[in-house]
Amino acid sequence: MTDIQLDADGRLRHLITTQGLPRALISQILDTAESFVPEVGRPARKVPLLRGKTVFNLFFENSTRTRTTFELAAKRLSADVINMDVAHSSRSKGEDDLDTLFTLQAMGADIFAIRHPDNGAAARFAEHAAPHVAIINAGDGSHAHPTQALLDVFTIRRHRPDFANLRVAIVGDVAHSRVAHSTIYALRTLGTTDIRVIGPELFLPADPQALGVSATTDTHAGLDSADIVMGLRIQRERIEGDILAEVADYHARFGLTAANLSHANDRALIMHPGPINRGVEITADIAYGEQSVILEQVRNGIAVRMAVMALIAGKRDSRSQRANSQT
Ligand code: CP
Repeated sequence: MTDIQLDADGRLRHLITTQGLPRALISQILDTAESFVPEVGRPARKVPLLRGKTVFNLFFENSTRTRTTFELAAKRLSADVINMDVAHSSRSKGEDDLDTLFTLQAMGADIFAIRHPDNGAAARFAEHAAPHVAIINAGDGSHAHPTQALLDVFTIRRHRPDFANLRVAIVGDVAHSRVAHSTIYALRTLGTTDIRVIGPELFLPADPQALGVSATTDTHAGLDSADIVMGLRIQRERIEGDILAEVADYHARFGLTAANLSHANDRALIMHPGPINRGVEITADIAYGEQSVILEQVRNGIAVRMAVMALIAGKRDSRSQRANSQT
């Protein structure tokens, strides 16, 4: 999978998954994102790195955070941005997704941010994209959500930069979560070895060892002394039947509640990729409490997506990016 993501010189060509993404490249993305943080809060100030480029947001699944922050990121980089209204596109007349890609390429697209319900869809688009076109996976099925993972580790690094000594607990529907998989791969590459996943049996990964995590149904044991606690939404759209009916007292047993979090480090960062389901996997008090960085994650998504697009466009030197900024 890594091959399709990198060019012959090891530079980022497409972004499909964090699995196998070299540590140096992840660090480069995070460093570049750091250089963009001041630009995020300055809408009038544009960085000209993507001037003349066209970015298509092609979302076959709903989104609030990812789609909007890709749009903001591309605009901050001076790109032209098209948000495809897939629900009202010619897909409804039977057009194949690849034919949609070829059609938009013919209009001059340079970068696609693509969300799709099918595992592997982003790689399929990348395999068929024109040589000058880049595909960024904005979430494909339960497979991967690499920019979410990068903004997660970016947010962690800003608060707790010592990845090797972190205790990370991920609570909830890990099995169906593309975010969990991508964030686990990124954390492991950055050196984190203590990653626990917590949930009822049917939400735990089939092979935790292969994923490099420990797994438990015991929330209190899993959260013990955790420095980072990430909650996950139940991915109902990828599960048949009423899961909650099968898991008694889900909120009390697996929710990020004050009682459960009392077992974590008392300075633990509370994270969640969103959207949250209040009263299911997290309480509103915790989601917007002092230890929560959930809205920071959202905001950091702009800088991280700017970094990914700038690097894909071949603008790699964060120092010159700053120097080239203009009002
Ligand atoms: N975290 C995330 O992907 O959120 P959206 O579905 O709102 O984009």
